[in-house]
Amino acid sequence: MAFRQYKLGTVGVGLMLGLSMTITLMLPSFDFRSAESTWVGLDKALSNGRLIGFSYEDPLVRGANKPITVILKEDPKTGATIDPPIRAYVYKPGTPFASPINHPDNLGPTVKSLGVERGKIDQAAKASGAVFTIEYADVNGQEWAYPVNATAVKGWSPDAALATAGDQNSRYVGRGKTVYITEGCWWCHTLLPEQTQDWQVFGAPPYLGDFNGEMPTAFGSDRKAPDILHVASRNSSREWMMMHFFNPRLVQPNSIMPRFDYLWGRVDVDGNKIDFKKWRAEYDEYRRGLRSHPPEVPEYARDTEIRALIDWVLTSLK
Ligand code: HEC
Repeated sequence: MAFRQYKLGTVGVGLMLGLSMTITLMLPSFDFRSAESTWVGLDKALSNGRLIGFSYEDPLVRGANKPITVILKEDPKTGATIDPPIRAYVYKPGTPFASPINHPDNLGPTVKSLGVERGKIDQAAKASGAVFTIEYADVNGQEWAYPVNATAVKGWSPDAALATAGDQNSRYVGRGKTVYITEGCWWCHTLLPEQTQDWQVFGAPPYLGDFNGEMPTAFGSDRKAPDILHVASRNSSREWMMMHFFNPRLVQPNSIMPRFDYLWGRVDVDGNKIDFKKWRAEYDEYRRGLRSHPPEVPEYARDTEIRALIDWVLTSLK
């Protein structure tokens, strides 16, 4: 009896080992490039630029050399109204292109042929910069999003696109994703609602094609805080984000999330020095009931890490 149990166990372990070896040996034959890129995948790749995280172009991982995502309400060349407004991804001369532009195979077969034939993405040159957009086409009754080199197709120059959008409609999304990584937000947050009841709270799980050419994906590993893949669809308030990043306890009294006030830098939008000590003292008075309101959160300056982080949260995470 005992012998038969051991035998069964041995066969079981053997089967499991065999199965895992089969998976290990067979998996490399799955061609990831057959996955077609979705709109989300294109949007992420084009906003993030070539790499997020360590690279020789940005050795200190400061979010340098990133494209700028702009919201266009007018055509940068003709001035014609664009309604509804669209997103465009501006690569100034010298900014490295996103991986699917350098390697269109990463887009998947259908999106690649649309991007090259109609979108002329193979004609973009890093030295002169380029502006990209995402358009839709119908192929065999199905709708596909594909990348367009608007510099070649519409004559939009990076400078004209930036000038048309203005700072008001420019979003430092790629740089913001870098801040997410360097600040270790992924230590607590995930960017991956799962195919369980999860999606009822955190929104739909992503598709395979949402990650074409994205590196790293920053899924996160262990969730200590809400999944934030779709956070901007449940909360799109810039003011709330500002208060919450400056000191999460301003809006969530028992939050364990750390303060990220240092991402404001030294000065506010008017160039005045931010007095963190005074702020803290006033906040402590408020907590002890000696003030009726907490102190105001300073308005951040244009070129700060917090601006990039909030741009990424509100533009990308829908
Ligand atoms: C120590 C863990 C921890 C770290 C690190 C952390 N957070 Fe959080 N975060 C939380 C917790 C817990 C909550 C829920 C309570 C709250 O809103 O403060 C939260 C809430 C949020 C929310 C609102 C979520 C919602 O569902 O409305 C956003 C957005 C957010 N965090 C972004 C970030 C970003 C960006 C960073 C990095 C700069 C970061 N967090 C770092 C723990 C963390």
